[in-house]
Amino acid sequence: MKKIILLVAVAIFSVNASYSNKPFWGKTGHRTVGEIASKYLDEDTAKAIADLLDGESLASASTYGDDIKSDKNYNKFYQWHYVNFPFDTKYSDSEKAKKGDLIMGIETCIRIIKDKKNTRENRVLYLKMLIHFIGDLHQPLHVGRGEDKGGNDIKVTWFYKKSNIHRVWDSDMIDRYKMSYTELANNVKRLSDSEAKAIQSGSLMDWVIESQNLSKKVYASVKMGDKLSYKYAYKHFGTVKEQLQKGGLRLAKILNEIMK
Ligand code: ADE
Ligand code: ZN
Ligand code: ZN
Repeated sequence: MKKIILLVAVAIFSVNASYSNKPFWGKTGHRTVGEIASKYLDEDTAKAIADLLDGESLASASTYGDDIKSDKNYNKFYQWHYVNFPFDTKYSDSEKAKKGDLIMGIETCIRIIKDKKNTRENRVLYLKMLIHFIGDLHQPLHVGRGEDKGGNDIKVTWFYKKSNIHRVWDSDMIDRYKMSYTELANNVKRLSDSEAKAIQSGSLMDWVIESQNLSKKVYASVKMGDKLSYKYAYKHFGTVKEQLQKGGLRLAKILNEIMK
């Protein structure tokens, strides 16, 4: 009997542990990116997107990429949420993940959405995935180190609860801030037109490198076993907000371009 209880306890614990390890911006982060993007869409783009998404908002569609993770039919997207390549190697020279990565994923989405010969169903699916992946791209640790799974293996505590540095950046800091995605979207820095344009400039690869450079800073900010709380949030939440804002602006830029 004791053995059975122990087995059940271990099973429950491992399910719990895997839940708490989910490697993505939490829902609030993704929705914030979608919400900010929707403020920067051209009129025609907004119409085309409303048509494809059947009126669903970008914020709402942004979490679809994670919602389908438990559905085997969508397994091929599993590795498209991140890209890890050595910090001292160019992406083009690096060994590519066999099942694809975030960069290839974003490029595929753009290609499929753009081509009106594709079925509406497919274009809608890849549009929802694109909205999600541009969010992921702006979580620095989604352009992290492969050997620690983008920081998932760097265990820390967050206000006395078990976590890891990846999760701190995905969701712990955002959740702790206790703002809804609309509140967050309305509380990012106010930008002039030229500041917004500057953020939207550059190529996908420029944005990847920017995230990777931030990820180096994140790795330097922490070591295994650190007890993180107020001080860490105070120091880094500004970067989180900035990344959500950049994600939103750049998602809008891509959508404005591909819906032309
Ligand atoms: N698994 C391996 N690398 C990862 C990363 N950078 N982000 C999320 N999950 C991962
Ligand atoms: Zn993540
Ligand atoms: Zn994701």
